Amino acid sequence: DKVYLNGNIVPPEDAKISVFDRGFIFGDGIYEVMVQIDGKFFYEKAHLNRLQEGLNKINIAFDTSNLLIEIEKLLSVSELTGKDCLLYIQITRGVAPRQHSYPSDIVPTIMMYAVPKVLPQINSVNAKVITREDFRWSRCDIKMTSLLGNVMLNEEAMQHQCFETILHRDGFFTEASHCNVFFVKDGVVLTHPANELILDGITRQVVFELCKSLDIEIRETPVSINDISEIDEAFLTGTSTQIASIQQIDDHILYKENKIGPVTQKLQEAFLKIKT
Ligand code: PDD
Repeated sequence: DKVYLNGNIVPPEDAKISVFDRGFIFGDGIYEVMVQIDGKFFYEKAHLNRLQEGLNKINIAFDTSNLLIEIEKLLSVSELTGKDCLLYIQITRGVAPRQHSYPSDIVPTIMMYAVPKVLPQINSVNAKVITREDFRWSRCDIKMTSLLGNVMLNEEAMQHQCFETILHRDGFFTEASHCNVFFVKDGVVLTHPANELILDGITRQVVFELCKSLDIEIRETPVSINDISEIDEAFLTGTSTQIASIQQIDDHILYKENKIGPVTQKLQEAFLKIKT
């Protein structure tokens, strides 16, 4: 295993960052996660565009257009060229004496690593999830490294032997701690609009494409927590989660152990056939 840090590729124990890095002090940075499947990064352009947009939103002056060359170097040294793996990219504002406002002339810290990861053909997780109030801030569209809210909410799922925590704000489901969430009602797929209250997942965007090609109606409509009992199906999406069926939401059971709803199943099967 190797770590890319500011142009150097070194063993993890030699990848050292100042304690004054604003990523460490403030969580002042943007990250991205993508997976390589069958020798290609899945929706690589979309991930790198989102990374650039995130950096632009918080005024970190870094141009991601040369990052692909660096990624190839990292994969080569990590002996992961063409292999199934997960790539983590983190760009923080850089090192400066602690002050809240953005320092001028600061140099961003670029860190990346890749680890072997083979994703299942179809995610066979039939997830149990809990629901919690979405107490995060209201700029969840920024894929920032300060993930304490997500971490705390995910930990609650683990404490309850559940796969995820799905979140609601003002009575409507937003997303999950590290996934997007979808519901199916009378054959129509419903999910929260891609505004500042959720991260617009790349897998979420893929689901929109799949629905279009499969002629499944999909609407960006927030679902009320009071309507859980009327929901036919629910599923989670994310880079490593892909499309995972939800079996149970708190005490509400959607299916028996290994059943998966027809719309979820159709989407999972179509997802498997995607070649990017
Ligand atoms: N999580 N919502 C949140 C809050 C997320 O953290 C993620 C991704 C998603 C799904 O986005 P995508 O489909 O682009 O992966 C939605 C990443 C994988 C993580 O933090 O590990």
